[in-house]
Amino acid sequence: MRNGPGVSISVGRISSALKGHSMTRIEVRTDNPYSIHMGRGISGSLAQYARLEGRRVLVVTDRRVAALHLSSLEGVLDSVKGLAGRGSVILPGGETGKNLAALERVYRALDEQNLGRGDLIIAFGGGVVGDIAGFAAATWNRGIGFIQVPTTVLAMADSSVGGKTGVDYRLRKNGVGAFHQPEAVVMDLAYLDSLPARQLSNGMAEVIKSALLADPGLLGDLREPDPDMEEILSRAVRVKVDIVQRDPAEKGERALLNLGHTYGHALESYHRYRKWLHGEAVAIGLMFACPCEPLEAALRRWNLPMDDPSVEPRDLVPLMFQDKKRMGATLRFVFLESPGNPYIREVDQAELAEMAGKAFRKTRKGPGA
Ligand SMILES: NC(=O)c1ccc[n+]([C@@H]2O[C@H](COP(=O)([O-])OP(=O)(O)OC[C@H]3O[C@@H](n4cnc5c(N)ncnc54)[C@H](O)[C@@H]3O)[C@@H](O)[C@H]2O)c1
Repeated sequence: MRNGPGVSISVGRISSALKGHSMTRIEVRTDNPYSIHMGRGISGSLAQYARLEGRRVLVVTDRRVAALHLSSLEGVLDSVKGLAGRGSVILPGGETGKNLAALERVYRALDEQNLGRGDLIIAFGGGVVGDIAGFAAATWNRGIGFIQVPTTVLAMADSSVGGKTGVDYRLRKNGVGAFHQPEAVVMDLAYLDSLPARQLSNGMAEVIKSALLADPGLLGDLREPDPDMEEILSRAVRVKVDIVQRDPAEKGERALLNLGHTYGHALESYHRYRKWLHGEAVAIGLMFACPCEPLEAALRRWNLPMDDPSVEPRDLVPLMFQDKKRMGATLRFVFLESPGNPYIREVDQAELAEMAGKAFRKTRKGPGA
């Protein structure tokens, strides 16, 4: 593992002799260090990973996760000795519900249940819930503690780690947000058993992105018919942790994590967030930024799209320039020299239009194919 100056990463995979299950722990050393715990069934021992005693806890979740898993998490909280109180708020869920209205509902619950500085929010769900709950924690009383209990592949591999929180504002994805690190991240792989196949694949797009960035060997493992999820997800998380630790506030290197996202975000926005899930759009964005055989094989294995032929890539150039990574007349675009060797270079509209003109040649027939 590459370490930046003054940064240490400790990663451990421990087997529990009793249950025959393994567990992975990854330390994140930022200004507010925290641990990521990963394993099957570990949410049953939540109190081992997060300080709960003497605190009021608000669980923020969405309807689907609440219907499937909230009562078991509440059972876990009820068994914690000395918990000062617990409540929950159930949001509608989905990207269209990642807005100020949802945030307001969380604030209202925080107010009604009288949570103060010393108390705790539990973000229990996918990336949408994690981003909203994290932003509520970042802003309530100028910042209270929160832990992430992610329940999707995307949230485990990506969004629950790194402290980016926020909500969408009109068509601006994550237009209002803050950096706020969780106190802990508890990834219980058992939650993935109820995840629909499309959502599983959706998250795999971010895993594939991480593999392309810094762990090309993972691309091979990802092609296996029955991969070890703990192994795959922990390697993807390590790639992210490694980058985030060196650049927590995205002043430079963290922008590498946007590989495939410039085109992906533009595509999502073009379709008003209705056609593709985030990871699916990123999969197509990866094919725009760095088409190569190992990428194609991994996308094929997870039934991820490689192109959206209904869109002319040149039409997305203006949308790509609305990206948050725009700097005046240029945009910081993430390229891949080869798997494991990404770099960032500023491109202007003309260069992006030229790239768009050459994109997806393999997947499209007709002129220019
Ligand atoms: N903060 C970050 O660094 C970061 C990084 C990447 C993505 N994101 C954000 O993450 C969001 C996408 O996250 P997502 O893909 O997890 O979407 P999501 O939170 O909408 O979850 C997807 C769907 O799966 C359901 N679900 C969740 N867990 C389930 C389970 N265990 N079983 C069955 N159904 C379950 C949800 O109810 C929802 O319908 C986007 O808003 C994106 O902007 C944030």
